[in-house]
Amino acid sequence: MKLNFDKIGKSVIATAREAGSLIQKERESFTSDQISTKGLHDFVTNVDKASEEFIYSKLKNLIPNAGFLAEEQTNEVLGDVYKWIVDPLDGTTNFIHGLYPYSVSIALLREDKVILGVIYEVGADEVFYAWEGTPAYCNGNKIKVSKTALLKDSLIATGFPYSNFSKLNAFIESMVYFMKNSHGLRRLGSAATDLAYLARGDFDAFYEYDLSPWDVAAGVFIVQQAGGKLSDFSGGNDYIFGKEIIASNDLLRDEFYSTIHKFMEDSVSN
Ligand code: 2AM
Ligand code: CA
Repeated sequence: MKLNFDKIGKSVIATAREAGSLIQKERESFTSDQISTKGLHDFVTNVDKASEEFIYSKLKNLIPNAGFLAEEQTNEVLGDVYKWIVDPLDGTTNFIHGLYPYSVSIALLREDKVILGVIYEVGADEVFYAWEGTPAYCNGNKIKVSKTALLKDSLIATGFPYSNFSKLNAFIESMVYFMKNSHGLRRLGSAATDLAYLARGDFDAFYEYDLSPWDVAAGVFIVQQAGGKLSDFSGGNDYIFGKEIIASNDLLRDEFYSTIHKFMEDSVSN
């Protein structure tokens, strides 16, 4: 089946923006009794679910027989060649507390390879996107990763562990190292947004463990199309499903990777 990615990409951008408008509208009347807990510190709201239902209703018509994997497990479909991976609201904890950023993240995979990524960050009204054969864009402008070549000059994004504390001690040691040997660390609370900002060159590097495929699938593709490099903590390619991700610009890659690898590889502490 030959797909028209320009047409599909534009539809996905429109869907992500519409889902973002739905989220903003819901935010106006949001109260804490709309929150439920999925696991330790793992929150979901009716807004996550409504956004996911909306996105599913749009995507299911775009590619016949495509699979659908999404965080809130609406209408999970296995599919054949193509599969959507969707986070209907990345940064739910921020959303609950009325803070930005939070994003809608939509990826399309062919077999196990991402071929399209769209991230809509609601607070700043910015949509980041790329698909097979295109550079990465934000709101129509081409974006590239930064040219920072040394760790000591770089700004690093991460996310703190929230329920899997198996690598906590090693992670904290790595943070201490970066506090002393970089421009600093930021923890925005939305991995999809972290990756989008890395693709634009705002951050020079990003790492986190225990993320899910829907948090990172769109972002890793946008980073790649913006010239960035990705790996898991062992230098392999299992960064979408493998729950470990390292991302950076190409110049910083070796120094950043070897630093994370030194602290995080084989670490089981706490
Ligand atoms: P989410 O908001 O879609 O859950 C922040 O470190 C990243 O971790 C976000 O992308 C966030 O995605 C994800 N995450 C998953 N579960 C989380 C939780 N219980 N608390 C904080 N972040 C969580
Ligand atoms: Ca989510």
